[in-house]
Amino acid sequence: MILRHGVDLAARHTLALPGRAARFASIDDAAQLTAPELRETPRFVLGGGSNLVLNGDFDGLVVHMAIPGRRLLTEDADAWYVAAGAGENWHDFVQWTLAQGWPGLENLSLIPGTVGAAPIQNIGAYGLEIAERFHSLTAWDFEKQAFFTVDRDACRFAYRDSMFKQEGWHLNGRVAITAVVFRLPKAWTANLRYADVAQELAAQRIAAPTPRDIADAIVAIRRRKLPDPATTPNAGSFFHNPVVDAARAAALAAAHPGLPRYPQADGRVKLAAGWLIEQAGWKGRNLGPVGMYEKQALVLVNCGGATGADVRRTMAAVQAAVRDKFAVDLTPEPIFL
Ligand code: EPU
Repeated sequence: MILRHGVDLAARHTLALPGRAARFASIDDAAQLTAPELRETPRFVLGGGSNLVLNGDFDGLVVHMAIPGRRLLTEDADAWYVAAGAGENWHDFVQWTLAQGWPGLENLSLIPGTVGAAPIQNIGAYGLEIAERFHSLTAWDFEKQAFFTVDRDACRFAYRDSMFKQEGWHLNGRVAITAVVFRLPKAWTANLRYADVAQELAAQRIAAPTPRDIADAIVAIRRRKLPDPATTPNAGSFFHNPVVDAARAAALAAAHPGLPRYPQADGRVKLAAGWLIEQAGWKGRNLGPVGMYEKQALVLVNCGGATGADVRRTMAAVQAAVRDKFAVDLTPEPIFL
């Protein structure tokens, strides 16, 4: 493990904002995490940087998780148990599981980022969250100087949430996830809960989709709707979809016909932040170098040369517009460093 100084972070996160890390260490073997140099705080644990807003220079230590590896751990009559190192690229990992004949993650195709970051905000898309395919993970606790393993219940997964966020560990760099084990059930059924996916397959005249068909359909939908960070820097959905109580959702729907509503298991209702932002006039609108994407208003984009301050300015303007029109507060999804 080599400790580097003054490392440029612009190319290490997908919003491409300027900033340097005072110290930076790339970890490709979990044993390196025991090094005394890594005890320094403030500390930030970085994966693919696809959910990060850089406020400028970071006067601390960035621990970049690059641990490779993916393998079948074991299988039983019901499931395959597949392990992956934290540094594996998420999409490549999903594609590899499909190629091995172990389906179950196809709905999460093309999500940017790494395997190790995926459980932190319980990544989800097109009717699936990783909580549903998660078995356990191993992580290093910098404070206790010890590895620990937690199962699914211990992770307290919820919508874009887990114990890692609930404990504040994603912000204070206390913990680094080193490996994740997925449980992929052998009894596979196509997950077509999300209307867009069913529509995409119908348009292709695929009546009985395979896992690969679903992966391909989702890749096609995402490529159509979401900007490619390589050409249009962004951090995916910039706000959470707000969840409100049923009475509130009904009142909003009465005042605003067409309001998309997604009833949740607990009786509350999830609203579509992208719809609220579009209705508030921010789809395809910019403030300086930062705007909301013209094909998906929930995605904030760096149109070139933006700083963290520019991102915060546009974020605040969008939040104010949605609050004025709907009295709904939008909370940002990415982490601010
Ligand atoms: N909508 C609009 N205008 C827009 C954008 C969306 O009216 O500009 C409407 C759509 O027509 C639809 C609804 O809002 O009725 C929902 O839109 P969409 O299906 O595009 O999904 P989303 O709620 O905006 C969420 C996730 C995405 C995930 C998609 C698909 C969050 C914060 N975002 O977006 O996750 O890919 O569903 O499952 O939950 C991410 O977290 O970075 C991310 C991309």
